[in-house]
Amino acid sequence: MKKISLTGIKPTGDLHIGNYFGAIKPALELAKEYDARYFIADYHALNSVKDPKELASAIRHVAAGWLASGLDPEKVIFYRQSSIQEVFELTTMIMAFTSKGLMNRAHAYKDASHKNIEKGDDMDAGINMGLFTYPILMAADIIIFDSDIVPVGLDQMQHIEMAQDIAQSVNANYKQQVLKIPQAGIQENVAVVPGLDGRKMSKSYNNVIPLFAPEKTLRKTVMRITTNSQSVEEPKDPDTSQIFGLYKLFAERNEQDKLAERYRAGGMGWGEAKEELFGAVNRRLTPMREKYDAIMADIPALDKILEQGAQKARPIAAATVKRFRKAAGID
Ligand code: TRP
Repeated sequence: MKKISLTGIKPTGDLHIGNYFGAIKPALELAKEYDARYFIADYHALNSVKDPKELASAIRHVAAGWLASGLDPEKVIFYRQSSIQEVFELTTMIMAFTSKGLMNRAHAYKDASHKNIEKGDDMDAGINMGLFTYPILMAADIIIFDSDIVPVGLDQMQHIEMAQDIAQSVNANYKQQVLKIPQAGIQENVAVVPGLDGRKMSKSYNNVIPLFAPEKTLRKTVMRITTNSQSVEEPKDPDTSQIFGLYKLFAERNEQDKLAERYRAGGMGWGEAKEELFGAVNRRLTPMREKYDAIMADIPALDKILEQGAQKARPIAAATVKRFRKAAGID
């Protein structure tokens, strides 16, 4: 039997090139080898997104984005977290096995409360229970689908460890393997994608290149990449330029070598380097953008794909809850 890979995608903000190379592409690679279960973590997003229109559109944007990037819903179980009632039942059950102290130590909560203390506010000001209990819901997401491996970024490592701790305390209590212990799938050779300013591409740095923006916007964004004041004539070092760093993600090896040569020879200005980059990015993203636009033009069809995924997911989730209820004496 194939092993199970599972990951959750929080529908907040517009997908960018960093998301594609850092999360989407590696997860889709993994789906070739594993039985993949990928879902839109809409109840996780509810903690921060309180505007209904914004949340509804973020859910569709992210779902369409993964499909346009090549996720095949015939092969991957692709669903919305909110469609699986059992996730929330399991959340309640594992709460009984999660110490409050564990949640106090969660990075996201600790950061938020430290910020409050620094400002002289009450430590819990503006912090809702959704943020505080976030790792429990995430543990339920993972455990309910018998996940073997969870492909995530390093920032999520602590959450995976908490899911392991929680599942282990359940198993220890009932002296049997009620729940499967998941492992983190931190991919080592995932590319770090440079942003417009050369720092890691991230929404919080406001330095992103959107994945599905219209061609004109894409071009404008590429032209905004910051550069130093080297003249056209001066030879340039491709290895320290984020323009070249981005180009490498989109071009074949021989194209990379050729362009690196032109950087080093001098005579090519940053404007021209950006044009080369835009050309390569646009060639690669145009078919994806067209697919994305087509999916977004038929939201009912998109919702149907997600609902069909949920129909495949529910029996798996129900079986886990049933196993747990039986072990717990609630059957
Ligand atoms: N917390 C993850 C993030 O912010 C999203 C997420 C929710 C998730 N549930 C998950 C990831 C389960 C992996 C598995 O990116």
